[in-house]
Amino acid sequence: MSTEPAPGAVGAPRPRIEGRLKVTGAAHYAADVPVPDLTHGWMVTATVSRGRIRDIDASAALGMPGVLGVLDHRNAPRLNPEAGNYFGPDGSLQLLQDDVIPYAGRPVALVVAETPEQARAAAGALRVTYDIEAHDLDISPERPAARPASTAFGPEADTGDLTAELAASVVVVEERYRTPEESHCALEPHAATVWWDEDHLYAVDANQGAFSVSEVLAALWSIDRERVHVRAEHVGGGFGGKGPCGPHVILASMAARRFGRPVRIAMTRAQVFETTSSRPPTDQSLTIGAAADGRLRAIHHRAAYALSPLAEYIEGCTEQAKILYAVPAIRTQLTAVPLDILPPASMRGPGATPGSFALESAMDEVAERLDMDPLELRLRNQPVAAPVSGRPFSTRRLVSCLREGARRFGWAARDRRPRSRREGRLLIGTGMAVTSFSAGVFPSTAAITAQTDGTFTVSVGASDIGTGARTALTAVAADSLGVGTERILLRIGDSDLGMAWGAGGSRGTTSWSFAITEAARKLRESPGDPARPVTATVDTTTMIDFQPDRERQTYSAVFAEVAVDPATGEVRVRRLLGMFAVGRVINPLLARSQVVGGMIMGLSMALHEESLRDPLTGRQANGDFAGYHIAAHADVPDVEADFVPDYEPQDPSGFNGLGEIGTAGTAAAIANAVWHATGTRQRTLPIRLDRVV
Ligand code: MOS
Repeated sequence: MSTEPAPGAVGAPRPRIEGRLKVTGAAHYAADVPVPDLTHGWMVTATVSRGRIRDIDASAALGMPGVLGVLDHRNAPRLNPEAGNYFGPDGSLQLLQDDVIPYAGRPVALVVAETPEQARAAAGALRVTYDIEAHDLDISPERPAARPASTAFGPEADTGDLTAELAASVVVVEERYRTPEESHCALEPHAATVWWDEDHLYAVDANQGAFSVSEVLAALWSIDRERVHVRAEHVGGGFGGKGPCGPHVILASMAARRFGRPVRIAMTRAQVFETTSSRPPTDQSLTIGAAADGRLRAIHHRAAYALSPLAEYIEGCTEQAKILYAVPAIRTQLTAVPLDILPPASMRGPGATPGSFALESAMDEVAERLDMDPLELRLRNQPVAAPVSGRPFSTRRLVSCLREGARRFGWAARDRRPRSRREGRLLIGTGMAVTSFSAGVFPSTAAITAQTDGTFTVSVGASDIGTGARTALTAVAADSLGVGTERILLRIGDSDLGMAWGAGGSRGTTSWSFAITEAARKLRESPGDPARPVTATVDTTTMIDFQPDRERQTYSAVFAEVAVDPATGEVRVRRLLGMFAVGRVINPLLARSQVVGGMIMGLSMALHEESLRDPLTGRQANGDFAGYHIAAHADVPDVEADFVPDYEPQDPSGFNGLGEIGTAGTAAAIANAVWHATGTRQRTLPIRLDRVV
């Protein structure tokens, strides 16, 4: 073991280790790993939202050049119906198992051919007919099908006397906010290359967690997890959409089994829209009561979100109401509305992003009614302990984010009256919002081998979906071993590396770093013969306190400036500034890049994104980049993001998570700025031209 001083790789701004591989094309993604004897699958998807398959006529397709065959519910391999997720069996995984159509876009067949072009052409020749049933897309929480959401992640809040506190309030804001269904837009569409060797299943797949995908595949095929080998070395973005085991990898595994050759499925953009997952639409109501001095007396946050009857899911819109403010009465009610839509799942700060739009817009309305600076309103309501759980905060640097953000943004000079700034015909406004997101650690394994040449092989089932996790974990490993990063060889992105949490829930890097740090500690304590490699392995499952006595969260304060053209309704964001408290920052360069990306996603949500469904067919009418708008370069202004000094005492290295917090908060800050510019509240996203004029 080296005795040289710790070089301090953590905290240094370093570019991505694999950056050169990526820009030179040497980095292989799931759709471009070279595999001999490869075949190509093309998905055929349901064009109706509910019903049954009457018939699939494959005769023309089967006669086309290069076609190996067609899989559908009549001839596909049977899968284990009990396979599922955290909540239990998940019907969205049961592809080609029956004739039921639960949503438009459900894969109904897979055509396999020698080339992707042949498979695509034959897929176009497949004749699928349906018995159509009436579908239901109406998300209103008054629906008979609406039911309380699962409380598997924690109970609803019901503290204090809500009625009495509202009655005693001088100002009561009661408003309804809506956010649309949204689609995933990662740069790399979902893809997998899959083959069987004897009874082992191999998949190179674009996902956020190779281990969890291997678990799902093992369950679907009823085989030992050790026989499933999933790799995801380079992934072009995930944002939640590559968290679940995707339909492409399941279908490719079925076809590879049937035809005895490797099968690749590389989705088109339109297939990503209709077959992967989405952010559910939400319909939220906020009632906030406040005293004349701005002290909050009550928050009642009700949120309904859509889900599919196939799969349980929680869009935790009401979580921040339990954390952000000192309030004597807090009540949350989360409602799930099962609809005939693509099963929603996590997207870009699930829960917190739509939830903070509603809560932080309503807070701005409280400030307006009190004629108080909205930043001052936040400062007056800072809790000393978590208002619902009563637990003290582990670290809470939200006030630092607010004060430093306000200073850099020039907030103090703001005239808070709406429509008080003009430039020619443009109305100029500024707005702000704060957010929190829960942080923590999930179980992971890690192994470190001290090689005889002085290098260290560090193996952890981490995923680098573009965040820079590989670079960050190399720095963590170097510091925890007390050596330079050039002596670390990091292996990630492979289910054979053992159980690990995925890149999601703001818990990837903390979970993997914890395992690496513990493995390094164990290695340093191992007696070693320097002439032989020594390996230390850990599994952090039993080291994690899942009921910590302190509330562990990340925080941000976001400031926005907009220019609104009242003649056209065009909203342009001119400036965005985010200050973040995320524990100790591992790599400021990559961390900044990540939260800037998150803020741009928030901008995109505020102004552009919405999945529009044709009420007649239930199909998404804008399911590609021609119709589904996301922020492009010209929409993105000067974005500034920085971190306040912070250290998480519950983490051995002080880390706290850096994912969802980047996105949440931005939409409310922009909506509040649009109000300040125009004097009109925008309670429905996106803030389209027709909603402004
Ligand atoms: Mo996520 S939305 O934690 O990938």
